[in-house]
Amino acid sequence: MKAVILAGGTGTRLRPLSQLFNKHMLPVGRYPMIHYAIDKMKEAGITDILLITGRATAGLFIAYLGSGVEFGVSITYRIQEEAGGIAQALDLAKPFIGADERFVMLLGDNLFEDSLERFANQFELQESGAMVLLKHVPDPRRYGVPTFDASEQTIIRITEKPETPDTSYSVTGIYFYDSSAFDLIAGLTPSERGELEITDLNNAYARSGKLTYMVLNGWWTDAGTFESLHEAAIRMMARPSDAE
Ligand code: DAU
Repeated sequence: MKAVILAGGTGTRLRPLSQLFNKHMLPVGRYPMIHYAIDKMKEAGITDILLITGRATAGLFIAYLGSGVEFGVSITYRIQEEAGGIAQALDLAKPFIGADERFVMLLGDNLFEDSLERFANQFELQESGAMVLLKHVPDPRRYGVPTFDASEQTIIRITEKPETPDTSYSVTGIYFYDSSAFDLIAGLTPSERGELEITDLNNAYARSGKLTYMVLNGWWTDAGTFESLHEAAIRMMARPSDAE
């Protein structure tokens, strides 16, 4: 399985820090944020990685990660010229993903404890479609929120940042797709804020009954705000593998 890691976007919730730096290069404990995304892929045995970021800071990623050799992975880079949404960024992965290949996409600001291995293995057993990873959160209104079918086997829709969430789960930024993702992206139209939304792609899968889910056990945070960035740094400093 290949991986696509997104490290573009504007990082508005982390201004003024993100005016100086791409947020995925901000320090989280001992390493820049992007380090953990690469580490998570390596941990799951996923070594063929496409990193998508913006033009202005792409050099920083290349300087830090290089070819990936020090991590034991292979990294390919693509530039997203303008932050046109997560699904628009993902579309840049089309030439990297083979015609019949499955892949995992990780939003580079998502930091978490679980290994991705068991989720990747489960997705390989799924006939077709997509799978998202969920996490119970105190304030689901900040995220995409799933609504389940009666049997709670599949997701019938995801609502992006709802005022009255149907469940207390967040859809995390860890997504597994089959190669039909790119045909479905071609059918999306920009949202009110002018972006191709990842939630619209996931809802396209949900409409055909092909959006499954699993739930993360360990801690998870979307380090896109000052509070969550701080929390992530504390968690990462406590990682036994990094303790001195
Ligand atoms: O973290 C989980 C949440 O991520 C989900 O619950 C939401 O459903 C999903 O829409 C997303 O919401 P955010 O508001 O956190 O998305 P944000 O715009 O902050 O972007 C998330 C990541 O994607 C971040 O690592 C930057 C990257 N990105 C984003 C955009 C819009 C890109 O690389 N390019 C882009 O154009």
